[in-house]
Amino acid sequence: IPAGGLLPQGEEGGLKGLGRGSRDPLNPKDVFIAVKTTKKYHRSRLELLLQTWGSQAKEQTYIFTDGEDSELRKRAGGVNIINTNCSAAHTRQALCCKMSVEYDKFIESQKKWFCHVDDDNYVILPSLLRLLSSYHPSQDVYLGRPSLDHPIEAAERVKSDGSVSVKFWFATGGAGFCISRGLALKMSPWASLGNFISTAEKIRLPDDCTIGYIIEALLEVRLAHTYLFHSHLENLQKLPTDTVLDQVTLSYGGFENRRNVVAVGGPFSLAEDPSRFKTIHCLLYPDTDWCLAGNPGGHF
Ligand SMILES: *[C@@H]1O[C@H](CO)[C@@H](O)[C@H](O)[C@H]1NC(C)=O
Repeated sequence: IPAGGLLPQGEEGGLKGLGRGSRDPLNPKDVFIAVKTTKKYHRSRLELLLQTWGSQAKEQTYIFTDGEDSELRKRAGGVNIINTNCSAAHTRQALCCKMSVEYDKFIESQKKWFCHVDDDNYVILPSLLRLLSSYHPSQDVYLGRPSLDHPIEAAERVKSDGSVSVKFWFATGGAGFCISRGLALKMSPWASLGNFISTAEKIRLPDDCTIGYIIEALLEVRLAHTYLFHSHLENLQKLPTDTVLDQVTLSYGGFENRRNVVAVGGPFSLAEDPSRFKTIHCLLYPDTDWCLAGNPGGHF
């Protein structure tokens, strides 16, 4: 984790307006990383997540799930686990219910950046901190990978009766996205305390589209398009090997598409590390005990 947090909170204000990237060391503690999961992935995906990048970001990682699991709480070792009490169904309503709880918990946390990822993402923390530190959390910032190569069009049912349509970009939730606190606070009328669910119901769109709708269509703030976030819907093998560690999030194909993983070599074979997350982790944090040279494979 890069140096950060040298400025006490509240003292960065005087530096506002200086060149981007040259000021405001970002304290890693100021980032809130919401991980959306579901009970069926507690063993597989979360086990891997907690063993890898989650272990380096305990204070900033918040896992939002839909079922109580005392084993998971034990294994989490300081990572925050929140039972949303939302349904475990993969429906728009259930997913929006989780996003709504994520939003409320972020506001409550007082942290400066809200980032949402899925349970099959690897968050490369140094890259995330580098990206966020080039913005100010009091600015309106919405960062992510556009889900399509054109804006989505939807009937405007919040500000009008649905007879007109609006076009807006949104960041694909499966790759992860980030929102500054300044912007998140402005979203409150449509996002806080259950309002997110009613906004999504009005426009009948999934959770990540609804975020884009609130930000681009209602608040007229533009998505900052970045291709450093990656979901399993992309061809991950195409990512040049020498750029992998510069990305902000990675993913892997999972059962449907086992071969869709980033091309990195290292201490673990494809059979030992099918997602490549352990390999990436060892490239980033070579001092990790289970990465050390000569690992006889005892841990896995
Ligand atoms: C879910 O339900 C439990 C038990 O009633 C409660 O303690 C918890 O706060 C609820 N979670 C949320 C996010 O409201």
